[in-house]
Amino acid sequence: MPSRRRTLASMAALGLGLPALAAAPSPRPELPRPAEFDFSRPLTATRARLPFAGGQSGGYGYDGLCPGPLIRVRSGAEFRIRVANALREETTFHWHGLVAPTAADGQPQAPVLPGTEQEICFPIRQRAALSWYHPHPHGATARQAWNGLGGLFVINDAEEDALDLPAGDDELFLVLRDAQIGGPGRLLYPFDPDGTEGRVPLVNGVINPRTELPARQVRLRILNAANARVFRLSAGAPLTVIGNDGGLLPAPVPVNEVQIGPAERLDLILDLRGAPPGGSIGLRDADFEEPLVDIAIRAGAPDRWEIPARLSRIEPLVHDGTGPDRVFRFEGDSSINGQGFDPRRIDFAIPFGKVERWRFYSAQGAPHPIHVHGAHFQVIAREGGRGRVEPWETGWKDTVLKWAPEQVDVLIRFDAYEGRYLLHCHKLEHEDGGMMLNFVTGRDPQAALERARIEALYGPICTTP
Ligand code: C2O
Ligand code: CU
Repeated sequence: MPSRRRTLASMAALGLGLPALAAAPSPRPELPRPAEFDFSRPLTATRARLPFAGGQSGGYGYDGLCPGPLIRVRSGAEFRIRVANALREETTFHWHGLVAPTAADGQPQAPVLPGTEQEICFPIRQRAALSWYHPHPHGATARQAWNGLGGLFVINDAEEDALDLPAGDDELFLVLRDAQIGGPGRLLYPFDPDGTEGRVPLVNGVINPRTELPARQVRLRILNAANARVFRLSAGAPLTVIGNDGGLLPAPVPVNEVQIGPAERLDLILDLRGAPPGGSIGLRDADFEEPLVDIAIRAGAPDRWEIPARLSRIEPLVHDGTGPDRVFRFEGDSSINGQGFDPRRIDFAIPFGKVERWRFYSAQGAPHPIHVHGAHFQVIAREGGRGRVEPWETGWKDTVLKWAPEQVDVLIRFDAYEGRYLLHCHKLEHEDGGMMLNFVTGRDPQAALERARIEALYGPICTTP
């Protein structure tokens, strides 16, 4: 992999913009904390003036913000929201990591037209986790996300509450992504069909921010909202993984470095108890010389909390078979098993409630972050490449990162809603290019498939007399 290491100074010297940072002494901006969503108003996709693009228009934001407002719901509650599209193009509102009925899933087949609003409502029937929301219109997802659309969605529950994890000021939400800026107010989109990466890292929408934290244990909840970039994170203080896409892991795992691919989430405890007040540490990515976030340490109230040895109970899925039930070959930058995405094509039907073993494979084009709608899965094997399931991939996942030439096997069970869902690469240019397919799950899989095929061509079948 070519090194993308570059200092901010050398970027400025290369004429790559960053006027605010070109002058050596300019201070790092404060790390913004994402605003909480106000349910009394619609969540609105709109054009926005984004700070990282010099405060000029040209970007997009939910409620004008990048990242969008943080949505918080309790497990077991009803999620009811109005969504509005104030853009001049179609969009959708997909709740990534939430198990939603097909009609509320924000799939490309059900766009929210410009100038319109919709109400979305479904029960939260899953445990505590950090999820997120983003646009999903076919062929335009990559551009809309790159322009700034994406926000966090937090579910809390009693199991998590009982652990007494660091909260309030000691819990930090970090949305990572990258951007390309061509001068003051010029957000560029250097489209690459194999995945667009920008030269500038963003944390909560700003470049190389700073923040101040107490010399205590803090909880870092991280989303990779980039189109294609994989982040490899480390910090100058002990890091422990406690959770991922699907919530808490069974047990904590100390790490030196963690990888987070597009759409994945991480829940980390950063232990600053040994960090001297007055000093600072950096949250770093292996590709950038400057720390993504510079963390200044201040004295904090004593912290005697210890990470519990058992974090959560995970039911291991059991598969009654030997080989994989399905194999998905991710090819080039635009197809799965030789076919590009067709919104009217439904590829297969999965028996509702049955555990299946799926195999993801690719010879090239990696990394592919592979995502499934409608259910979470468990990663059970990886052959080739890294040759192991990483410690942060245990528990429940909705996206798994696959480098070439890795072969990754997962166990999956659809048991929440019967309906039509998607499997795709979450490198957004691959997804838009067609590395995506539709499937259905139903108690009578054959009937579900026939029905979905007719509906895909002719619209919903009416079942009431
Ligand atoms: Cu994060 Cu199908 O999407
Ligand atoms: Cu891909």
